[in-house]
Amino acid sequence: MRTLLLFAPLALCLSSAALAQAEPGPPIDNDTTETNVPWQAQIYSSNTNWTATELANREEWDLAHKCGGTLIATGWVLTAAHCINAERIRNGHRVRLGSATIDLEEGATYRIDRMVRHAYYDEKRHYYDIALVHYVADEETDEADAGPIEPIELYDGPPLDPGAKVYATGWGQAEEGKGKGFQPDLTEVDLTVADCASFPEYAGETTEYQLCATSPESDTCTGDSGGPLVMEVDKPMLVGVVSWGHGCYRENSAGVYIRIDQQHFRDWIDRAMAADPSISEMR
Ligand code: ARG
Repeated sequence: MRTLLLFAPLALCLSSAALAQAEPGPPIDNDTTETNVPWQAQIYSSNTNWTATELANREEWDLAHKCGGTLIATGWVLTAAHCINAERIRNGHRVRLGSATIDLEEGATYRIDRMVRHAYYDEKRHYYDIALVHYVADEETDEADAGPIEPIELYDGPPLDPGAKVYATGWGQAEEGKGKGFQPDLTEVDLTVADCASFPEYAGETTEYQLCATSPESDTCTGDSGGPLVMEVDKPMLVGVVSWGHGCYRENSAGVYIRIDQQHFRDWIDRAMAADPSISEMR
């Protein structure tokens, strides 16, 4: 997504960037502790055998980034089903918490020991694109320098109607296209819930348990998937999961999100977290 830089005023960023160039010295404190999205998670690959071609075009943090996620309870990150599978876990996908930047090895990182994906997840049609990732601390975990880490409450009200004001956060691409590169600083985009039926391009492609959200200026994009869609009335509440869309930033288009509300996935989430640890799929 592209829009607001979240964790520091722009002027401050610019001046510290200028400072960084002017006088080499102690690293500038990027205020990791100022992250104001304490439930934002990153899912990334800790497996660093990139090819020379990959490294020639992109930095390692950029190659490593996979998806967003949302901390909903200690040990549990909610994400999209397309973001995680058994092979990725075996290959060393990890969870990062407590950081708004993903290019400075900040925050605390954790090993993923298991997942529960929705049993009806359909990759082709993007159906039931929801999964829970369970993480544990290991020898690489260092919580000492992490910013605030705090789960967000799940929304328990009636399904959101068109017009509801929400926001999404993530490190996703700033433009549509393959391999455009992710954004090192967490950004936030303000969105309005819209009726998916008002976008002919999505006719027959969305279902009742999904919602569409739009903004005239912005969107979520590749790399934002799995991340939070939040509604803040008296307090922030998780109302959705970034799932898919036709391209990004297109005019009169929208992103598609999995709904989280009293009628959607609350029960699935509770059951998945309470399930026997041997279970990796649940309907
Ligand atoms: N599928 C994307 C991902 O893996 C999310 C795309 C959201 N697209 C949109 N136009 N809002 O990161």
